[in-house]
Amino acid sequence: MEDRKWLTTAAGVKMPRLIYGTAWKKERTADLVMKAIQAGFKGIDTACQPKHYDESLVGAALHRLKDHGIERETLFLQTKFTPLSGQDPKQVPYDKNSPIESQVVQSFDTSKKNLQTHYVDSLILHSPVAPHALMMKVWDAMETIQKTGGARQLGISNCYDTEVIRQLYADASVKPAVVQNRFYQETRYDADLRHWCSAHGVIYQSFWTLTANPHIIVSNIVRTIAQKYNKTEVQIFFRYLSQSGIVPLTGTCSEQHMREDLSIFDFELSSDNLKNVSHLLNQV
Ligand SMILES: NC(=O)c1ccc[n+]([C@@H]2O[C@H](COP(=O)([O-])OP(=O)(O)OC[C@H]3O[C@@H](n4cnc5c(N)ncnc54)[C@H](OP(=O)(O)O)[C@@H]3O)[C@@H](O)[C@H]2O)c1
Repeated sequence: MEDRKWLTTAAGVKMPRLIYGTAWKKERTADLVMKAIQAGFKGIDTACQPKHYDESLVGAALHRLKDHGIERETLFLQTKFTPLSGQDPKQVPYDKNSPIESQVVQSFDTSKKNLQTHYVDSLILHSPVAPHALMMKVWDAMETIQKTGGARQLGISNCYDTEVIRQLYADASVKPAVVQNRFYQETRYDADLRHWCSAHGVIYQSFWTLTANPHIIVSNIVRTIAQKYNKTEVQIFFRYLSQSGIVPLTGTCSEQHMREDLSIFDFELSSDNLKNVSHLLNQV
């Protein structure tokens, strides 16, 4: 059962197949992270981006979890470097006038302090930086963090152009191990990019998975499969994604949904049912 819940990335890092996201939780962040981990989540996604995440409250939860016998080392912890364009100008977590490679270092130092840890399992560039040469400066700084033990693997987010990741992958000495993208029909669900990722051993993490896809969740196909398996429609969609090699993020605030999301590993969809859901996604 356990290998259904974890995969090993190309960087050799054990990553849960479902990750708890901590965006937009504000002062509820610590309590919800505690609840998620106690419910059984093993992976946490955050960012050094005060506009959307309270990274220090993720750290507070990790600290409190120790008292409950849950050590940080048993968890997969992922954070991000957010370039200036993604920060609220009033709360930039680094010196915005310093060179971008120094911003990466400062941001990561803040993340370590916030998270009360000396390393993260995954460090993600929150969005591509242009031009490519400037992005490579950022990536070089991230590589230094990886090579000195600060991050076990690197990744990129909001990267919808396969050419951008192809170039990054070609020029990087530490290759991206994950891509974290919005999973929605406007990009044809990143079909080409995901194809490239699986050919290069890069794991695709999805966000906006439920928010952007109510039409999938309420479709007759998913509803019929849900009835057959005695599961909710959301469980069927998450299970479909997981069996397709995608790692969904869920930021649910409901303890019942936490339990339901985690129990997608208790059953397996048949290949016919996988094909039926794929067909729905391919209709766009
Ligand atoms: N890289 C980026 O730029 C980026 C951008 C956005 C998000 N993210 C990450 O992705 C995480 C997830 O964000 P998201 O945008 O995918 O949305 P989300 O915060 O997971 O919200 C999804 C919605 O689905 C509902 N939900 C969850 N599980 C459910 C279930 N089993 N049954 C029914 N409803 C369910 C939730 O409601 P309830 O609370 O009532 O369950 C919520 O309203 C974030 O916390 C963040 O870590 C990253």
